[in-house]
Amino acid sequence: MSTNKFTPFRYISPETTMTRYAVGALFFLLLSTVAFNVESRNVVDDVLRLPSEAARFFRPNQKSKDDDDDAAGTRWAVLLAGSSGYWNYRHQADVCHAYQLLKRGGLKDENIIVFMYDDIAYDEENPRPGVIINSPQGDDVYKGVPKDYTGDDVTAGNFFAAILGNKTAVTGGSGKVVESGPNDHIFIYYTDHGGPGVLGMPTYPYIYAEDLIEVLKKKHDSGTYKSLVFYLEACESGSIFEGLLPEGLNIYATTASNAEESSWGTYCPGEYPSPPPEYDTCLGDLYSVAWMEDSDIHNLRIETLHQQYELVKRRTANDNSLYGSHVMQYGDLKLSREDLFLYLGTDPANDNCTFVDDNSLSPTSKAVNQRDADLLHFWHKFRKAPEGSARKFKAQKQFTEAMSHRMHVDNSINLVGKLLFGIDKGPEVLTTVRPAGQPLVDDWNCLKTLVRTFETHCGSLSQYGMKHMRSIANICNAGIQKEQMADASAQACVAIPSNPWSSLHKGLSA
Ligand SMILES: *[C@@H]1O[C@H](CO)[C@@H](O)[C@H](O)[C@H]1NC(C)=O
Ligand SMILES: *[C@@H]1O[C@H](CO)[C@@H](O)[C@H](O)[C@H]1NC(C)=O
Repeated sequence: MSTNKFTPFRYISPETTMTRYAVGALFFLLLSTVAFNVESRNVVDDVLRLPSEAARFFRPNQKSKDDDDDAAGTRWAVLLAGSSGYWNYRHQADVCHAYQLLKRGGLKDENIIVFMYDDIAYDEENPRPGVIINSPQGDDVYKGVPKDYTGDDVTAGNFFAAILGNKTAVTGGSGKVVESGPNDHIFIYYTDHGGPGVLGMPTYPYIYAEDLIEVLKKKHDSGTYKSLVFYLEACESGSIFEGLLPEGLNIYATTASNAEESSWGTYCPGEYPSPPPEYDTCLGDLYSVAWMEDSDIHNLRIETLHQQYELVKRRTANDNSLYGSHVMQYGDLKLSREDLFLYLGTDPANDNCTFVDDNSLSPTSKAVNQRDADLLHFWHKFRKAPEGSARKFKAQKQFTEAMSHRMHVDNSINLVGKLLFGIDKGPEVLTTVRPAGQPLVDDWNCLKTLVRTFETHCGSLSQYGMKHMRSIANICNAGIQKEQMADASAQACVAIPSNPWSSLHKGLSA
């Protein structure tokens, strides 16, 4: 039974702290190695390339300021950080930074809708109470951020209602929604953990790709925008649009990663560049910081979406393949010839900047797989805490709980696969990746049903477990019914482990 597998964590006596730490460290290293091997698979061939189009993106002459201003209509933005918890500091830091950028660009607060749990600035771990930074030398990005939807009001339902401009569908929060008209431009930016076909939220249920695409189609059908740009940071974020976002909706999307790889945190402790020493958490995410730091310093009247895509892609990838992901683009690629100004406005202080197609921003030399960033936080907290302190004990507990949750989820899913398809075939079915251009799953209701079934017996997938969404999708694609899934899950999991990650107190994620 899978529960036996975590014996080493359960029965080590509290006296042997060093041994426990060493065991933890070993697992951490093993895990990183495994993650790196998986992430570095070469999927360059899947990257969309448009060599013949490339030349057209670089316009010979600049438009005048007034032309651009008239064409813009009203600019709307929806910003969403999908996580909570100090170990996820970076997602809310990203969103706060995006707000400051748009504000400097000239957008009005009434047109910027912010979703963030808002538990970071005053978390007891935050070395600068009331301040959030998104880069090591960065200024406070928290000041002035509108608190439209915070805490338990950060829901998938409110996010959808905000995009659709449907005030009656909103529950809680400021009630601010995108009340756009046919000439308006909309920018949506989401940052958090994700998994194949799914985006995390600080509340359940999570956002499933098909539901998001339906919302975008509905928004298009309502005729209430001219064009819409979606920037998305999450693990496997390509899977949200891959084979799902049609052309013709006037939507251009870029994602931090393709459909089958992690995205990456940056400015992490122990990496370079690292946060100030008093920070035990990553300050940003690689793709997010790349587009924002580029936008911060350029005149966005003369930089196109495509030019930014190229810069961000170069900064987010890494030649040595040890970290980094493949930035992707989806939807109506012709929109990427437009200037960023249409969506982000531009900071007047950058008016005299000329765009240089060269990434002058310092490349990061290391980054941290998003899925390991929580462990990294507990690790540094543990490392720095005084010997024998309550803090040290707590950090150790958090680390081992996170590790044992991972092992439980990994083992349970594998076992379910073997029970359904046999010892040999199980792992193969679970890890199959459909060819590029195909959606993750044919029947999204099946995916949600089987996620609920699994969680009922095995506990919450939670943030880390979202990585197994492809396995559950493949179980659907193989025609497995709910009853078979329930039997297999009940056999694989005799009980739900009693740690906060597995707990179902927030409900089911689907
Ligand atoms: C807005 O949301 C409400 C409640 O969910 C729903 O009944 C209504 O049809 C929606 N309106 C539009 C225009 O979609
Ligand atoms: C841009 O250049 C003009 C002309 O030299 C100057 O008057 C203006 O102050 C500059 N703007 C900024 C933001 O530096």
